[in-house]
Amino acid sequence: METKEWRIFNPEGTKRVIVTKELPGQRWLDILEAAGCRVEICTSAAVLDIDKIQAAIGKQCDGAIGQLTEPWGEVLFAALRVAGGTAYSNYAVGYNNVDLDAATEYRIPVGNTPGVLTETTAEMAVALTFAAARRLGEAERYLRADLFDGWLPTLFLGNLLWRGTLGVIGAGRIGAAYARMMVEGHKMDVVYFDLFPNEQLERSIETYSAYLESQGEPPVNCRRADTLEDVLKTADCVSVHTVLDASTHHLINTPRLALMKENAVLINTSRGPVIDEAALVDHCRIHPEFRAGLDVFESEPALAPGLAELENVVIVPHIASATSWTRQGMATLAASNVAGLLSGYPAWNRPDISGFLEGEFPKAAPSILNAEELQIPLYPD
Ligand code: DGY
Repeated sequence: METKEWRIFNPEGTKRVIVTKELPGQRWLDILEAAGCRVEICTSAAVLDIDKIQAAIGKQCDGAIGQLTEPWGEVLFAALRVAGGTAYSNYAVGYNNVDLDAATEYRIPVGNTPGVLTETTAEMAVALTFAAARRLGEAERYLRADLFDGWLPTLFLGNLLWRGTLGVIGAGRIGAAYARMMVEGHKMDVVYFDLFPNEQLERSIETYSAYLESQGEPPVNCRRADTLEDVLKTADCVSVHTVLDASTHHLINTPRLALMKENAVLINTSRGPVIDEAALVDHCRIHPEFRAGLDVFESEPALAPGLAELENVVIVPHIASATSWTRQGMATLAASNVAGLLSGYPAWNRPDISGFLEGEFPKAAPSILNAEELQIPLYPD
C-alpha cells in the first residue's frame, strides 16, 4: 500500500523491487517497468536503519536497490532471501557497505555502478586539489565576511602545482582519470602506488610526454612506486583513490602524514576511513602550510572534532559523483543490474558499460560483483 514514505510505481508489476531512496531520471524506472517490476520507492531523505529496510523487504520481495549509507549484510540478505529475493544492487561503485560473502552465502547477486562516475569523481578530486592548494575556502570566507580591503601582494599565497609532482594512491579507473587530468592539463609528473601496474596510464603519459617534447617542452614522467612511503615523501599533492577494506583502513595515519612535505596537499574522494581523520586534524593544526581537500569522512555525516574549524582544509559533503548525468547513469546501471538478474540475463563481462546508458541496452546485468561465485553466466559467452 502506498504511504507517505513509500511511493509505488507500476503497481501492476509482478516482481516487487524496493528502492531505499528516490533516484534521478526516468530511464531506470522504465527499465524496471519493462522487466515487469512493481517498484516501491522510499521518499524519505533520512538514512534508513536496518529495521526499516527489513520491514520494507517484508514477506515478499524480489529485488532491492540500496544506498552506500546502509549496512547490507547478513541480516538484510537473509531477510531478502526469505522473501524470495534474487537481486540486489548498490547505488554506488563502492561497496564497502555490502558484505559480499553474506550475499553470496544467501545466493544474492550484488551489483554496483562502475564507469559512469570515473570522470565526474576525478573532476571533483581536481576541484578539491586546486581549492586546497589555492586556499579557495579561506579566501571566500574572508571575502564574504567583508574583510577584503583591497589587493595585497601577500594575500592568500598558495601553492603552484604546475610542473610539480603528483602522488596517486590507487591508480584504478578514477585514480588514473585524475592523474591524466592533472598531467595533461597541468604537466605534473606522476608517482603512483598500486598493487598492480597501470600500463594504460603509463603508456598514455609516455605518449603525452613525447608530444610535449615534439613541441620543444620538457617531458613529463610517470612511475609506479614500490612503496606508499615513496609517494608520500616525493609528491607535492597526494590524492587517495583506493577501495576501503581492512587493508586500507587508516592507510594514511600519523606516521605516514609525518612523511609528507610540510606544504603538501592531501585529497580524498574515495572513502573517509582510509584516512585517520583525527590524525589529519592534528597534522593540519601543527602544519598550517599543509592543506587537505576532503569529499568523504570517517564517520559520515559527522566530522572529526576540530576538522570544520581548520582554515587549511576544504570540505564538501560526499558529492564527488554528483552531476545529473552521472547520478542518472548510476540509477540506470543499478536498475539494469536488478532488472537483468530478475530477467535471468547473464552478467556483462566488459569494462565498458556505455551501451547501457542510452538506446537499447545489451540483455545483460551490467556489473555483478559475485557473478563468478554464484556461477552466473557471462555475456557474450
Ligand atoms: C560511490 O559510488 O561509491 C560514491 O562514493 C558515491 O557516488
